[in-house]
Amino acid sequence: MGYPINRMRRLRKSPRLREIVRENHLTKSDLMYPMFAIYGSNVRNPVPSMPGVFQLSVDELLRETAKVVEKGIQSIILFGIPEEKDELGTGAYREDGIIQLAVRAIKKNFPELIVATDVCLCEYTSHGHCGVVEEGQVLNDPTLELLAKTALSHVEAGADMVAPSDMMDGRIGAIRQILDTHGYHDIPIMSYAAKYASAFYGPFRDVAESAPQFGDRSSYQMDPANSNEAMREIALDLEEGADIIMVKPGLPYLDILRRAKNEFNIPLAVYNVSGEYAMVKAAASKGWIDEQRVVLELLLSMKRAGADLILTYHALDAADWLEERG
Ligand code: PBG
Repeated sequence: MGYPINRMRRLRKSPRLREIVRENHLTKSDLMYPMFAIYGSNVRNPVPSMPGVFQLSVDELLRETAKVVEKGIQSIILFGIPEEKDELGTGAYREDGIIQLAVRAIKKNFPELIVATDVCLCEYTSHGHCGVVEEGQVLNDPTLELLAKTALSHVEAGADMVAPSDMMDGRIGAIRQILDTHGYHDIPIMSYAAKYASAFYGPFRDVAESAPQFGDRSSYQMDPANSNEAMREIALDLEEGADIIMVKPGLPYLDILRRAKNEFNIPLAVYNVSGEYAMVKAAASKGWIDEQRVVLELLLSMKRAGADLILTYHALDAADWLEERG
């Protein structure tokens, strides 16, 4: 039955009516804030392609984390920029590695904050790839051991959750096994399961100094043309013990997010990546879009598509705006 019996506009008449029938809500607890740790003190390096994002030395990181906590954000994810890079990315799993130092300091000062760590080698390897390289090839199985070591060292430093982003086959199982063997049965793994070989990571590679020095990441990250393959990746990671599944990037992959939510009844995260952030910031700085409305609409679109958790550089601004709106 249609018009005039049905009138869709009846429930749109007032803010109160719209509110009581609203299907999706964005809240601060949906947001995870990515932060970048670097050696030194009083370091706060801006990143031109990501206005508002900085490489922070541990002292500055603590100052910034205080803001994060004050604004009501409940979780962060840490990335590290090492002092030196080498073939095997040893900076990723050293006891005094940058992430290990940052995690210890943050957990000591903010024990309640959920601190996740990105587990990958690309920031730490001289070639910038996410695994061990031999004769121009990124090797899968030898990489697993290094990733597992990295994850364990993060957890030993106090990380609440590890998030492998390398896209090697079998890494969830390898990490689950090493954590369990060391008594960390309760530490969840958030798997970057459906991570695409995307052009949207450009600005991140500026801040993390992690661009591959030869070739690209297409032999391990997913082909943007594929959707069925993402479901296989997710199924395999769940079998290996992943607790949260991530789709990355966000906006160009909302279809993958919705499909993942429908096919697997699991906690789902999405990464609203650096290129998505840079586009919004660029347009906003020119006055071409209303930043606040655009950001909140984008984040809401990710929730509507099925995300339970959104990793986003907009988190601090969004928290302020959500607070103002009440
Ligand atoms: C590391 C990693 C990347 C991102 C998160 N973890 C970069 C990449 O795969 O090259 C990208 C995040 C962003 O663009 O905001 N492997």
